[in-house]
Amino acid sequence: DRDAAVAQVEGLIRDIPDFPKPGIIFKDITPLLGDAAGFRTAVDLLADSIEGPMPDYIVGTESRGFIFGAALAYHIGAGFIPVRKPGKLPSDVYACEYKLEYGTDALEVHRDALSQGARTLIVDDLLATGGTARATGDLLRRLGAEMLGYSFVIELSFLNAREHMIDAPVNAIVRV
Ligand code: PRP
Ligand code: MG
Repeated sequence: DRDAAVAQVEGLIRDIPDFPKPGIIFKDITPLLGDAAGFRTAVDLLADSIEGPMPDYIVGTESRGFIFGAALAYHIGAGFIPVRKPGKLPSDVYACEYKLEYGTDALEVHRDALSQGARTLIVDDLLATGGTARATGDLLRRLGAEMLGYSFVIELSFLNAREHMIDAPVNAIVRV
């Protein structure tokens, strides 16, 4: 059942203390990715959480969002749109800057990635502060996409990112 599936996924996420800096507990998904049954369960749970109309596109944010996003797109028969770090996409892009703890970073998407009103679902491995997800959402709004929601494997719920993501429903398989 669903609870057992969620527990299977949760059990394959490893805490790495003090990475990349002292005081940060890194959520390492590599044991999940390396476990054939666990990886499949995670993608199946992402698919099962889709309610209502199916997305035309899964939007995955570089780089860990590509792993789950592409697998989910294949699984449900949707296209895949990569949102990439600056300078990687070859054609005309929209860019969105977002805040990091120190400084800023940016994400880009191709301007012709979709047609107006296309249904999209944003997928990433982790929701932490929400900066990455909100920047991805901003890019989709500029493309004129319909946003069905955000879907994550892990949510760090104590950071309350969800409170600031009011434009579309937020789903997470494992909430810690
Ligand atoms: C990590 C993670 C999410 C993001 C979550 O990506 O994969 O994309 O951080 O953090 P936030 O909610 O505070 O924005 P990272 O930028 O480390 O890069 P990666 O996916 O290339 O490893
Ligand atoms: Mg990432």
